[in-house]
Amino acid sequence: MKGIILHGGHGTRLRPLTHTGPKQLIPVANKPISQYVLEDMRDSGVTDIAIVVGDICPQKVKNHYGDGTKFGVKITYVHQHQPKGIAHAIGECREFVGEDLFVVYLGDNLLKGGIKKFAKSFEESNLEGMVLLSKIKNPQRFGVAKFDKKGNLAQLIEKPKTPPSNYALTGIYFFRPAIFEMIGRLKPSRRGELEITEAIQLLLEQRRSVCHKFVGGWWKDTGTYEDILDANRLVLEELKLDVKGKVEDKSSIRGKVCVEEGAQIKRGAKIRPPVVIGRNSIIGGGASIGPYTSVGDDTTVRRGEIENSIIMEHCLIDVNEKIIDSIVGAHSEITSGKAGKPKKRTFIVGEKSNIML
Ligand code: TTP
Repeated sequence: MKGIILHGGHGTRLRPLTHTGPKQLIPVANKPISQYVLEDMRDSGVTDIAIVVGDICPQKVKNHYGDGTKFGVKITYVHQHQPKGIAHAIGECREFVGEDLFVVYLGDNLLKGGIKKFAKSFEESNLEGMVLLSKIKNPQRFGVAKFDKKGNLAQLIEKPKTPPSNYALTGIYFFRPAIFEMIGRLKPSRRGELEITEAIQLLLEQRRSVCHKFVGGWWKDTGTYEDILDANRLVLEELKLDVKGKVEDKSSIRGKVCVEEGAQIKRGAKIRPPVVIGRNSIIGGGASIGPYTSVGDDTTVRRGEIENSIIMEHCLIDVNEKIIDSIVGAHSEITSGKAGKPKKRTFIVGEKSNIML
């Protein structure tokens, strides 16, 4: 089975971060979201992988993944010149797929438990398509499944106002090459994109064999800031105590905390789990980190409280404030001189920002 990771898109909801890189490279618990996807494919035996890159800094994707050797896979890059939709991106991989069966995984989707058992079941079947569904409370934002009386998949409806069920289409699809014929027949939808839901709908209408499976654990589509912070929380929740760096006061570290190699936690620093501190980062004695916070590599937090946030690599935080529910892009600085009682602040900060409070 081959794999396709979608790494393009507009990324409008995640600006300004997507001005300087694709959203799929945003780190969750200090690892790019699409790396979870790639590792899930690899661990499921899918090692021949196409990454579809768009126009948002494709070189950053290539720099991170290279030819795939470092990750134990073989990568082919496919360039989607314009973000004309998920089905369009898959269509660009026609040559890569050949006559194989394949899995498509949106590069900004996370699935607890992974795809291994689903990949196996699709391989053992003769199905033309298989979709993974997740039960969620408000499925209006997604493609939603409608079932017939026997419980078979009858229809997929993109972003319905009144959802026919609570089962949303996750961003993971299994196909045989028949799907390319359906993609070839698509016309742009109202939002100007070739919709994969419509291509699957065509398979269903032609009575080609399409089945659905329900995912057990959580599934997260990380299209918005709130989703990314949610994903960060979910992944951090699974951490195990792992201290490779230097902790001056050992009693300050308990529970789900990961301190990477070369990191330093100074005496007086408060670490409230779950927390990950990246390589060579320094947490000063006047800092309080967590809960639910990821600090990237080579970042210094001299003073300040940080809660439920992602601070990327090479940042400097030195404030007399509480930073909460925030995402701070790489190479940014947030500093303040004034003493006094910390206030709460929320930031969505792109790369190379400089904020003085
Ligand atoms: P979306 O998140 O639905 O769309 P988007 O990336 O354009 O973002 P926004 O709505 O904020 O502007 O895309 C789902 C996934 O598919 C995501 O991983 C990006 C990817 N994608 C492509 O690779 N090519 C495309 O043409 C589109 C539309 C999405």
